Amino acid sequence: MDARPIGMFDSGVGGLTVLHECLVTLPHEDFVYFGDSHPDRFPYGPKPAGVIARFAHEVAAHLAALDVKLIVVACNAATASALPGLQREFAVPLIGVITPEAHAAVQATRTRRVGVMATEATVASGRYPQAVHLLDAGIEVAQVACPLLVPLIQSGDVHGEELHDAARAYAAELKDADVDTVILGCTHYPLIRPMLQRIFGRGVTLITSAEEIAREAADTVARRGVSNEPGREGTYRFMCTGDPGAFREVAGRFLQLPLTEVERVDPAALAVAA
Ligand code: DGL
Repeated sequence: MDARPIGMFDSGVGGLTVLHECLVTLPHEDFVYFGDSHPDRFPYGPKPAGVIARFAHEVAAHLAALDVKLIVVACNAATASALPGLQREFAVPLIGVITPEAHAAVQATRTRRVGVMATEATVASGRYPQAVHLLDAGIEVAQVACPLLVPLIQSGDVHGEELHDAARAYAAELKDADVDTVILGCTHYPLIRPMLQRIFGRGVTLITSAEEIAREAADTVARRGVSNEPGREGTYRFMCTGDPGAFREVAGRFLQLPLTEVERVDPAALAVAA
């Protein structure tokens, strides 16, 4: 029995799509969610890999200092830019996204044409084509960087025309590439999944990471013998580097969970502590 919480982070509210699945799969575990939402830091996607790796290191160090038993990197840009480095640096186990979606996409495609929608950093890393080709080198992978989506989703206005137009324009590139499966390669994107499914139509399978990563988190704590007591009700704690009020409002709405308290972490202190 291990009462330590599971830590999880993203640049903002996107990782909540992963937290949601983890709360469903592991209701007896405690969670600490960290959103690196300060305007000097969010979004990660347009930043160079080295900057994202530094931010991810600082956040992981903060979570490790809270004595978490597992860190879930609930951000594709951070996974693509930083996960191997973090795993080398920290003693606490770390798991990330990308590999589970690649696996699911390889299983789902019938035409062996797979699309990827992701941030610029994730597209530039080439991690999705690599992960898909490790499993099936014959699959064609078309990637499209979608820089407008994350800031618009994070603002909470998911009904606006600007977001809809941007999503349609990005999707058009993948429709032209004639893919039958699209990986939503950013944890923010499942928050607009109904819109994307409508744009692509029923013939295209959308792949997300949340359920797979929740399963991996469950396996990891079980195999390491660090599960919390079954049957108890887990707790959750939220922290962010940006405006806690804005985070509470948007996160509560997306997660459909009342967030009583969101702690603010000073990004300058975060950098010094790491
Ligand atoms: N949710 C992050 C991801 O999965 C968004 C990155 C960003 O901040 O641009 O990539």
